[in-house]
Amino acid sequence: MYLEEMAKISIIMVGLWLLVSWSGLLDTEYTKYKDTKQYIDTRVDDLVSRMTLEEKIGQMLQIERKYASADLVKKYFLGSIMSEGGSIPVPQASAEDWIDMVNEFQKGALSTRLGIPMFYGIDAVHGHGTVYKATIFPHNIGLGATRDPELVKRIGAATALEVRATGIHYVYAPCVAVCRDPRWGRCYESYSEDPKLVQDMTEIIPGLQGDVPDNLPKGVPFITGKEKVIGCAKHYVGDGGTIDGIDEHNTVIDRDELMKIHMPGYFSSISKGVVTIMVSYSSWNGVKMHAHHDLITGFLKNTLHFKGFVISDFEGLDRITSPPHANITYSIEAGVSAGIDMFMVPKLYTEFIDDLTMLVKKEYIPMSRIDDAVRRILWVKFMMGIFENPFADYSLVRYLGIQEHRQLAMEAVRKSMVLLKNGESIDKPLLPLPKKVPKILVAGSHADNVGYQCGGWTIEWQGVSGNNVLKGTTILDAVKNTVDPETTVIFKENPDIEFVKSNGFSYAIVVVGEHPYAEMHGDSMNLTIADSGPETITNVCGAIECVVIIISGRPVVIEPYVGLIDALVAGWLPGSEGQGVADVLFGDYGFTGKLPRTWFKTVDQLPMNVGDPHYDPLFPFGFGLSTKPTTKGFYFS
Ligand code: BGC
Repeated sequence: MYLEEMAKISIIMVGLWLLVSWSGLLDTEYTKYKDTKQYIDTRVDDLVSRMTLEEKIGQMLQIERKYASADLVKKYFLGSIMSEGGSIPVPQASAEDWIDMVNEFQKGALSTRLGIPMFYGIDAVHGHGTVYKATIFPHNIGLGATRDPELVKRIGAATALEVRATGIHYVYAPCVAVCRDPRWGRCYESYSEDPKLVQDMTEIIPGLQGDVPDNLPKGVPFITGKEKVIGCAKHYVGDGGTIDGIDEHNTVIDRDELMKIHMPGYFSSISKGVVTIMVSYSSWNGVKMHAHHDLITGFLKNTLHFKGFVISDFEGLDRITSPPHANITYSIEAGVSAGIDMFMVPKLYTEFIDDLTMLVKKEYIPMSRIDDAVRRILWVKFMMGIFENPFADYSLVRYLGIQEHRQLAMEAVRKSMVLLKNGESIDKPLLPLPKKVPKILVAGSHADNVGYQCGGWTIEWQGVSGNNVLKGTTILDAVKNTVDPETTVIFKENPDIEFVKSNGFSYAIVVVGEHPYAEMHGDSMNLTIADSGPETITNVCGAIECVVIIISGRPVVIEPYVGLIDALVAGWLPGSEGQGVADVLFGDYGFTGKLPRTWFKTVDQLPMNVGDPHYDPLFPFGFGLSTKPTTKGFYFS
């Protein structure tokens, strides 16, 4: 009897064991989306089939870090967190501070029911510009002047490393705008007025994301490994073509011209596997791009077969109406229906959640549209391996601002300088400057200001002034480092004529230009350089031989002074490595840069681009004198 009982119990135990094992098998099946051996599509299907509407809408949101916390990420199932321009975890945050912040948000994401990791985005538009101690590369306009896509690719790779060094996965770059009017405050974010040059410069994408394998179908987003980042071609489309260059305004142009001028950058970006595309605040022929179903779903997704995800601009939904946020329910419906997948809704995310939930429940927006958005976002997350490696470690922190990247930035600066005038005639050039002379004058508002050199999107959204807020070399310091030790360098920001005449200077280097700005704050109808630039040019160049370097995000009014100036250099916004400027001034390297834009004579000619019937530039598109490197280290007078 006892044995019989024992046998029964054993049978029950075995049965239970089998049941547990079987449900274990089921459990493996249950977490199919976590299985790396499955195809990404299968993983996406599995995960989406498990998600509630609430979880799906959470994935579609990207909110600003200052309104976020791990608990909030968990509560609303948020798909992504971001930094707006200048938004940092602590003042002068180290790479470790950034990583700690990002990982903290990640903990929130992983503690949700389905444990879907989030990613973090930032504007690394000329290097990891927001981050203290990062290498700041020239802004895109300067890179356009280099005509060197391979260099730009290396800059992309360096930027990716510095961004990953801070635990961040996603950059809102490159801007593939084709700026057609320099009065636009974002003209410096554009590589060129020429669509072909913009296309060439999309080589930054394989630098940021990695090289697309040959067998990958066109349109499939691609990123390799943990040293690369998700890129973002922006702002789709026509952002650089608005009337009078007014930011976020209307681009009035027919479809053919839109395709020829503003679209080619996207053709190239998509064929290079760009993972995301950001929609422009601007309108095309009066229709807001954030509500443009034909161009987002119709053209981008259906015709071009773009398989990555489309992201809105910051509060882009709000700006569908005028005034902004006037009817957010309508805007959400319009934006989601147009085909935008992820939404930068920095602060008012509960409103987005409530309204979108209502719109789906009442069938104003079909679930299939939500699923399309979520599938695209999840596809990227699986592809980039973030499910398997959700947390950033400290192994890459050493890359932030390293010397190799600064050398690369110097190379970019040298190649971006465009020499517009060099002495009275070809046989009497002023440059290269002699290194060994008794005394030289360095003047101008931009000579000793690394913040000004960097322009907007540096540390702060609008950029900064001064030398203590970021790490770099001013042009003044670079000059001092380059001249002979016996040459005396005198710096005076805005000297009067008497001072210039009476000091026995051999020559002067004048560095003037625009103060930093970003977006609409940079729109300018007069395009003059900042005070006291014109006065400094007049005082110095009227008295002694001078080279003038213009630090600006675009061509500016210079014609009235060209006669006074002996040598003229377009320096653009070179970034943290001012040494590159001195390298070409003193002939350690030759000038090779070519104008990526037309330099106008007067603003009333604008807009004026290469090929226009009324083309009458001060310096044409593609212009740039060259010099040969010289070993001449001293001056014979
Ligand atoms: C800009 C975008 C930028 C975004 C996030 C917007 O104001 O238009 O270019 O990526 O902010 O900072």
